[in-house]
Amino acid sequence: MEYDHLNPYPFYSYMRENKPVAKIDNIWQFFRYEDVRKILMDWSTFSSHFPMGIISGTVINEDPPKHDQLRALVADPFSAPNVELLRDRVRGIVHELLSKVGSEMDVINDLAVPLPVMVIADMLGLPKEDMWTFKEWSDDLVGVNDRNSLPELVQYLQRKVEERRASPRKDLISTLAGGRELTDRELISFLILLLVAGNETTTNLIGNAVLTLLERRELLEHLKGDLTLPVEEFLRYRSPVQGMFRIAKKNVQISNVEVKEGDMVFAWIGSANRDEAKFKDPDFFIPDRKPNPHLAFGAGVHTCLGAPLARLEGKIALEALLKLIPRMKLREEKLEPVGNWIFLGVRHLLVDLSTSA
Ligand code: HEM
Repeated sequence: MEYDHLNPYPFYSYMRENKPVAKIDNIWQFFRYEDVRKILMDWSTFSSHFPMGIISGTVINEDPPKHDQLRALVADPFSAPNVELLRDRVRGIVHELLSKVGSEMDVINDLAVPLPVMVIADMLGLPKEDMWTFKEWSDDLVGVNDRNSLPELVQYLQRKVEERRASPRKDLISTLAGGRELTDRELISFLILLLVAGNETTTNLIGNAVLTLLERRELLEHLKGDLTLPVEEFLRYRSPVQGMFRIAKKNVQISNVEVKEGDMVFAWIGSANRDEAKFKDPDFFIPDRKPNPHLAFGAGVHTCLGAPLARLEGKIALEALLKLIPRMKLREEKLEPVGNWIFLGVRHLLVDLSTSA
């Protein structure tokens, strides 16, 4: 059974049924919901502390108590009530981007890519003109391009940190640079994490949702006039992040296998979210699925910091797109998956927009 990057679900289904835990490429891989959740929840056994390049030592790479200290530094600006204050700004960006669209559109490049980049750049206090450069840096870091632009990015951020220290503004760089909690190296890594963590992921949430609506047009009727968009079901159905690595901190018995201290573990979120043992009719898109305990944002201490922001951006973008989707016709070209196998998404979503619905 082959892993198909655009449709990994038959592979997951096969694995859950026949080999729910498999050691592949020397990594323990877990496919069932209960195991995936257990691994993500139990940081004292399944640690996030292993080399992660430039984002080593950031919140995503540390276990408690260090994790909790780092997370506390940014918890407030990313909290649901504070993110809610960004609503008009996000709406403004969506409308600005859509106002440039003519009779054809690449849903990815025209909206899904620039939206999260513009929002996070705004929060950090970085200029909009630099947006496409951030996007390239962000792609380079997650391995989409075969290019190492890290020194450029570090230098750029260092300059911004120095500028804000000299004259602080009301932005996240000023807040973080003004405190004494982080060394300069930690601060730059933190900024890089914030810059990249929300980009590819939110892009894929929007792209995957539009793809689902284009495939299942009958959903549009159902959603018409309904402002409670099924963002949670989009997150479950085609999860932007398909899995997460951990390292075992001790020997442990899980699902009848012996994982040894130091072994790498991969928890397949994308498979967990389609597990029939947890979700009724998992391969059906059910807009008002309740409950919907998907793991698209992870679980436990590392649950996505940006979840309220991603939900807000996804909801506003999709609300605006709902008016356009009935006019969209998918071009015949074959869809191409994004370059990094941990993410589920398409590189482009080219559509023609007819003048009438
Ligand atoms: C739909 C969009 C998104 C998805 C699917 C997503 C998914 C995830 C997942 C699965 C994790 C858990 C990582 C782990 O367990 O090791 C995570 C953590 C994280 N996410 Fe997101 N994310 C999204 C958007 C964002 C946004 C917009 C930001 C903000 C800039 C962000 C920032 C972070 C950070 C900083 C962490 C680490 C939190 C910690 O370790 O305590 N994410 N995300």
